[in-house]
Amino acid sequence: MADNVQSSENLLNTKPEEPKLVTNLRGIKKKLMVMSGKGGVGKSTISASLAAALAARGKKVGLLDCDIHGPSIPTMFGIEDERPIVGEKGIVPIEVSSNLKVMSIGLLLDNKDSPIVWRGPAKMGAIKQFLEEVDWGKLDYLIIDLPPGTGDEPLSIVQLIGNVDGAIVVTTPQDVALVSVRKSLKFVEMMKVPLIGLVNNMDGIICPHCNKRIDVFRSGGVDKASTDYNVPILGSLPIEPDVASTGDSGTIAACVNGTSEWHKNFKTIVDNISTRVK
Ligand SMILES: Nc1ncnc2c1ncn2[C@@H]1O[C@H](COP(=O)(O)OP(=O)(O)OP(=O)(O)O)[C@@H](O)[C@H]1O
Ligand SMILES: [Mg+2]
Repeated sequence: MADNVQSSENLLNTKPEEPKLVTNLRGIKKKLMVMSGKGGVGKSTISASLAAALAARGKKVGLLDCDIHGPSIPTMFGIEDERPIVGEKGIVPIEVSSNLKVMSIGLLLDNKDSPIVWRGPAKMGAIKQFLEEVDWGKLDYLIIDLPPGTGDEPLSIVQLIGNVDGAIVVTTPQDVALVSVRKSLKFVEMMKVPLIGLVNNMDGIICPHCNKRIDVFRSGGVDKASTDYNVPILGSLPIEPDVASTGDSGTIAACVNGTSEWHKNFKTIVDNISTRVK
């Protein structure tokens, strides 16, 4: 055969180049997304607390804030003024602690008040960059905090990653939230992402004076959604003013130390997630 013609055997043995994204995420053991059909139900609080709790248990954790229009993770960790640098292996995420790295579009904006006015393809481009160009290194978990709904951001994550290891769906007990949350459960099912479970957030409040529980929203909707979609409730969290203030003051990582009912229940949720994501 002439030298300038590759043999068919050689052609068959030539492996296509691995996509950059696959190479970049190779060191990550588990990729988990936190989502909800409803806004303001506590997705970012739970993503940030989960990331901090797993890191405190000695796991290597990355937290990717995929809320392009309303990133809140930098505020929760008090890192809004930090700016990532570009190293030899890519964009270096901000290290909140030795075990916890964070990336968010909020860390890349010149002005905190500037809105991101982007349609789907531009958002998908940014998310692709977070997955391809951020130097995540070796991680036990990548936690992905998503904005509300079942649109561009969750779809981009599922399609780009291809093998998301699980979804945690956050809800609050009232029917008005559950209508949208059930759509998230359906979305996860349609995308064939394993459903880790539901977190029932803002489930009542414990009176600081008499220690009695007050049910702010009355509904059996979370139990019904759990039965209908055959998905466990990982735990319920009451409204806890301390948690809201740590989020606002950039000290969310302190959530691993509290002793309130929220803190006790949150520990159970982290245990349940660790057990179910093997
Ligand atoms: N269990 C709780 N107790 C008290 N406050 C809470 C609790 N969960 C969340 N919050 C507060 O509720 C507000 C909304 O929470 P968070 O930003 O986590 O919601 P979200 O679902 O991520 O919102 P968005 O849809 O805008 O992304 C925050 O101020 C947060 O501190
Ligand atoms: Mg959020």
